[in-house]
Amino acid sequence: MASISARVLASLLRGWRESTSAPAYSALADRIRLLILDGRIPLGTRIPAERDLAAQLQVSRTTVTAGYGELRASGFLDSIRGSGSVARLPTRAPIPIENVHAGYLDFSKAAMPAIPAIGEAAQRAAAELPAYLGESGFDPIGLPVLRAAIANRYTARGLPTEPEQIMVTIGAQHAIALLARTLLARSDSALVESPSYPHAYEALRLTGARLVPVSVTTEDGWDEAGLEQAIQRTSPAMGYLMPDFHNPTGRSMSSELRERMLGLANAQGTTIVADETMAELAIDAGDVPLPLAAYGPAVLIGSVGKTVWGGVRIGWIRAERQLIQKLARARSAGDLGTPALEQLLVKNLFEQYDSILETRRNQLREGRDYLAAALGEAFPDWHVPHVAGGLTAWVNIGEPVSSQLTLAARNEGLLLAAGPRFGLDGAFERFLRIPFGYSRDETDRAVSALSAAWASLSRGPLLDQNFLAEVV
Ligand SMILES: Cc1ncc(COP(=O)(O)O)c(C=O)c1O
Repeated sequence: MASISARVLASLLRGWRESTSAPAYSALADRIRLLILDGRIPLGTRIPAERDLAAQLQVSRTTVTAGYGELRASGFLDSIRGSGSVARLPTRAPIPIENVHAGYLDFSKAAMPAIPAIGEAAQRAAAELPAYLGESGFDPIGLPVLRAAIANRYTARGLPTEPEQIMVTIGAQHAIALLARTLLARSDSALVESPSYPHAYEALRLTGARLVPVSVTTEDGWDEAGLEQAIQRTSPAMGYLMPDFHNPTGRSMSSELRERMLGLANAQGTTIVADETMAELAIDAGDVPLPLAAYGPAVLIGSVGKTVWGGVRIGWIRAERQLIQKLARARSAGDLGTPALEQLLVKNLFEQYDSILETRRNQLREGRDYLAAALGEAFPDWHVPHVAGGLTAWVNIGEPVSSQLTLAARNEGLLLAAGPRFGLDGAFERFLRIPFGYSRDETDRAVSALSAAWASLSRGPLLDQNFLAEVV
C-alpha cells in the first residue's frame, strides 16, 4: 500500500493555519480534504501516524487526532486495522467521472468552446476518409498529409522542418507522457517550472525521476540564475518548459534566455522539451514568437486542443528524426496510433489556421480585458497581471487562502483550481489561476460566485464536496 510520510504531508500542508479563523483541527482537516479531492494524496494512500504528523507540524497530538477524526466522520479517511488511516472519498459508490462536474460552472479548465470551422472541416475529412480505408489504420507516427502540414507550418513560422521530424500524437498530454517515459529513467532529474501545468508534473513523476523546480513569476518571468544553476548542477536528463505562453503565468521567455538556456542544456546533455500548446495564442503582440527550436536544440510539443477545441485530440512532437523513430518504437506500449479521421480534420483546419488563430486572439483579448475589469471592481486588493498571451491569469489574491477559497467557491457552484495545484509542494496559496476564455456571462457568474466565496471565508469551516476536479 502506498503511503505518504509525515514530512511530505507537512510540506503539502504548508501555510495550513494561516488566515483561517477555524479551529486548528478543523483547518487541518480542511486542507487534507482538499489534497485528497485534488488527487495530491491519491486514494488508498496511507497517511502518517498522528504522532509523526503532530511532530512535523509542531502541534499537539490532540489536534491531529481531532483533525483525522473529522476526516473519518466525513468519509475522507478509513481506518484499516494494522495499516493506520487511508485516504478515500466519501461516496458509497464511486461518482461516475462524467457526472463529476454536473451543475457546476467549470473554470478549472483553461479552454474554449470549439471554433465554428470544425463542422465543415469534419465533413471534408469524412469525404476524404475512403482513400485510407484500404490500409490497416494503425498509425503510430501520423498520416503523411498531416505531418507535412505541421512541418510546413513550422517552416512558415521561421523554423525549417521536414515531415520526418514530426510525430502526430493524441493531444499534447500524450506527447508529454511519451517523451517523459522515453527520455527519463528512475535515477534521473527532470527540470520543471514552478508553477507549471499539473498534468505534466504527474507524467514526469510517473517515471520516478526527481523533479527540479525553477521559479517563474508574473512580474519577473523565469529565475534566470536558478535556471542556469539547475541545469549545471543537476544535469537533468530532460527539461519540461513552456516558453510561450507559460501556463499559468502567461509569461514569454526572452530570446537571450532561450539561447543561453539551450546552450547550457546542450553542454550538459539535457534534452529541453518545450510545450508550445499556447505559443500561437499571442494576444498583444502582432508577431508570434519563434518556436524554441529556432534558438538551439529543443524538442517541441504542439496541439490544437487550445486553438481549435479540446475535443479534437490531436497534438504532435517535433524532434530530430532519430528521436521520432525511438518514440515510435516506444509508443506501442501505451497506444497503437492516432485516429485517422481526426488527423484529416486537423489537416483541413491547417488550411485556415491563420484565420482561426486571429479569431481566437480576438476572443482572448476581449476575455482577458473583461476579466481584469470585473476582478478589479470586485477585488480591488487582488493583483491581476497583464497577460500577453495564453488563456489564463495567475492572480495574486493577497492572502494565503487559495485552497480555502476554491473549496468555498465549489459551495457557490464554481469549480476553480487552487494555486497549490500548480506547484510541487503545496506552495502558491496566494495565487489563483483564472481562465479568461469564457463568455462575459460566464465570467460575470464566476466573479460573483468568487465574491460570495471570499465573503464566506471569514464565516468559519467549509462544507464538504466530493469530487475530483480535472485541471487543463
Ligand atoms: C500547457 C499544456 N500542455 C498540454 C496540455 C494538454 O493538451 P492536449 O489537450 O492537447 O492534450 C494542456 C491542456 O490544458 C496545457 O495547458
